[in-house]
Amino acid sequence: MASLKQGEFVGSLDCGTTSVRFIIFDKYADIVAQHQLEFPQYYPNPGWHEHDADEIQQHADLCVEGAIRDLEAAGWAKSSVKVIGITNQRETTVAWSRRTGKPLCKAIVWADSRTKNTVAHFEHKLKETGIQVKPGEWKKGKDGIETLREITGLPLSTYFSAIKLRWMIDHYPDVAQAHDTDDLLFGTVESWVAYNLLGGVAKSVHIGEVTNASRTLLLNTTTLQWEHSLLEFFELRPSILPKIVSTSEIYGNITYGSLLGVPIGGLVGDQQGALIGNKCLTQGEAKCTYGTGAFLLFCTGGEIVKSTHGLLSTIAYQAGPKAKPVYALEGSIAVAGSAIKWLRDSMMMIASAADVNDLAAKEASTGGVYFVTAFSGLLAPYWDPGAAGLLIGISQYTNPSHIARATLEANAFQTRAIIESMKLDSGNDLKHLKVDGGMTNGDLAMTVLADIGGFSVVRPEMRESTALGSALLAGSAIGLFGWDINKPETLREVNTKGSREFTPALAEPERQKKWEGWQRAVERSRGWEA
Ligand code: G3P
Repeated sequence: MASLKQGEFVGSLDCGTTSVRFIIFDKYADIVAQHQLEFPQYYPNPGWHEHDADEIQQHADLCVEGAIRDLEAAGWAKSSVKVIGITNQRETTVAWSRRTGKPLCKAIVWADSRTKNTVAHFEHKLKETGIQVKPGEWKKGKDGIETLREITGLPLSTYFSAIKLRWMIDHYPDVAQAHDTDDLLFGTVESWVAYNLLGGVAKSVHIGEVTNASRTLLLNTTTLQWEHSLLEFFELRPSILPKIVSTSEIYGNITYGSLLGVPIGGLVGDQQGALIGNKCLTQGEAKCTYGTGAFLLFCTGGEIVKSTHGLLSTIAYQAGPKAKPVYALEGSIAVAGSAIKWLRDSMMMIASAADVNDLAAKEASTGGVYFVTAFSGLLAPYWDPGAAGLLIGISQYTNPSHIARATLEANAFQTRAIIESMKLDSGNDLKHLKVDGGMTNGDLAMTVLADIGGFSVVRPEMRESTALGSALLAGSAIGLFGWDINKPETLREVNTKGSREFTPALAEPERQKKWEGWQRAVERSRGWEA
């Protein structure tokens, strides 16, 4: 074999909810090699969603090896990969043994809703007993809820890790015993994958990254430390927690495989990764990633904006152990691409997800149809678990194209609802929304989003923004290519190729009329299960 060239690249291991991939980027964010694998999903009971943490790791390792093979096949030496970052599905909770380094049970996935009773128990506890913020000083009832939000930026919900961890301890004797004997290690997915890559049980590097930690209900988002009053509240021992690390620093070197000796320089939750990958690094910039669900993050700079309109306050990044954190407001939509999947798999209206755009394009409007895609209630900003899916405005005139168009509009209306809340919380109007994710491949979907939102939608040509975000953090940690996340101007040359802007063309009165129609439809869908 001809000798391999030496280059300078950065790798990103993207451990998402349904697949893992490893992407190798050059200094312009062009992809040099990549490998992706889906991994098994477990749904043992209604509302349950589990992963096998060992399988996540095995698939991650296979993706690294697959991409390195492709890199070498393209003529580059594997030593060209100078550093890697890891980005991950957030909130998913892993429990493993300090003694053996093996998982003690299946991981509970972020979307799993089995913990409703655990949430109810802690709601009750919050009301009756409260949180002890200082010795002898308790905050309970409304004050308790406010205190929890004040400290963590989050409401009590099945979504967040502490609730899932508590459920594991309460229901799995092995986990309870490990908790009682200080054998339990808790982590989110970046913590688990870093633990393994950095030496597993032999080295026992137990770290947890700060954006992921901000989704646990245990982190004080001001001090960036675990909050003892909340550990007490959830009855968790401090010894189970990882050491909190920043989003960009050298955490250690990989201990096996083709990347042996390569440093890990970035860890970040995937939605924050996409925010960084879209270069929304300063106050007022926002991105939305449209996958199965959709996640809109709006950067609020150094200020924690506490939402009073149904959004989460979260950490966007902390680029370096001594760096000041940057914050974001977040709105999550449970159903985005999955509504299109439903049109394809259950309604059989389309053969492939991409066909939704062609089907919708056959009609110039929805013909008065609204589709509230509340398949499992509504998340931000409505937070209504009792909302039901609703198609309204149907007549004999309605055809599949109207429904396809109404599905695209549902996505746009929910995005707009989040942006309206962000305006109210932050006082900022949004001029541009950067987008990525599978649904953004459709031009019509993007046109509809701009028309209904009333803002311009910017879609980059290279849309692996999540992976790019963690690559930028990792490169920044070693000063590769002069990148420095804390100096956005150093990223000027990254991913500049051909973004496309979709500007709103709909007249304001028409936009307003549609928006009012959507709000009426949402009202009718709410409280159905109550
Ligand atoms: O909060 C959950 C989110 O991080 C999941 O993202 O893209 O892995 O489905 P994704």
